[in-house]
Amino acid sequence: MVTLGVETSCDETSLALYSEEGVIGQVVLSQAQVHAPFGGVVPELSAREHTRNIIPLLERLLSQTGFDLSKIDFVSFTLTPGLIMSLVVGVAFAKAVAFLYNKPLVPVHHLEGHIYSVFVETKVDYPFLALVVSGGHTDLYLVEDFGKYIFLGGTLDDAVGESYDKVARLLGLGYPGGPIIDKLARTGEPIISLPRPMLDDESFNMSFSGLKTAVKNLVKTGSYRKEDIAASFQKAVVDVLEEKTKRAIRHTGVKNLVVAGGVSANSELRERFRKLSEEMKVKLYIPSLYLCTDNAVMIARAGMERYKRGVVAPLDVNPEPNIPLEVFGRQWT
Ligand code: KG4
Ligand code: ZN
Repeated sequence: MVTLGVETSCDETSLALYSEEGVIGQVVLSQAQVHAPFGGVVPELSAREHTRNIIPLLERLLSQTGFDLSKIDFVSFTLTPGLIMSLVVGVAFAKAVAFLYNKPLVPVHHLEGHIYSVFVETKVDYPFLALVVSGGHTDLYLVEDFGKYIFLGGTLDDAVGESYDKVARLLGLGYPGGPIIDKLARTGEPIISLPRPMLDDESFNMSFSGLKTAVKNLVKTGSYRKEDIAASFQKAVVDVLEEKTKRAIRHTGVKNLVVAGGVSANSELRERFRKLSEEMKVKLYIPSLYLCTDNAVMIARAGMERYKRGVVAPLDVNPEPNIPLEVFGRQWT
């Protein structure tokens, strides 16, 4: 069984061919250079770039793999959440392929894609806890089975990746800020005291906008080295993520932990969560770096799970900017 995966929810255009045996091929085109001058993703530019690039990317994928597109069994695509006009491009493209070859359409939730990115490399036993850390989300879910997601808590304001990008902008670094701060932090010391918002709060909710404001005030003083600010900011972020995750593990009693999304590429987070998993005796699953940031393989992988359960979408299905994961799971099972 082979599926074509389609991902256009934000600033990566990505297509993948994926079978039950694994990845056949993938193409990912990042729009980072287009958005860099603005320090963040410009929705209209994103949609235009997807429209410009999606067919040339399909041609590249087919020539790289030598695969005959008419031989796919179904099309997997991101239906939600994301920038609506960017989603529209991917959904219209997925429908065109499905219509042309008379193949089923299988909708995937973007966060579900991130979570199931780990299944590309291994299998995880249910139930497991999933921490999704990306540019748009910072959420903790209890995953009881495919499609059965229980939301435990998440950020009440900025997503953690978003705060990385904003702090990078404050420091005059490039975009996306996450990888740049990650690298810079390795050369600095976490010597500056920064808040750990909502750490005293018993819930699994988090908040990162206060941390960004604290960095803004630090930058204004002009008396700190950028690398020390980066190291201190990163330590504060990982402290919060670590503590909230520990609480969720204790609360749910799970033995398996999945950490996924763009920020799961972060070196300090990966190291600290490895220690956490040893301490708490849970098995940790973090995808390889190429599966952390947005990609179509993860969409294809989650699509494979849904298709095996016999769930497909009609050809008039419409993207939505923000269906919560737990609601989507109930709708499409
Ligand atoms: O999952 P993703 O590709 O897109 C969304 O679904 O949002 O995540 C992108 C986010 C960006 O905010 C980027 O700065 C962040 O992931 N990111 C990182 C690292 N690599 C990417 N954040 C921290 N450390 C990294 N190494
Ligand atoms: Zn993402």
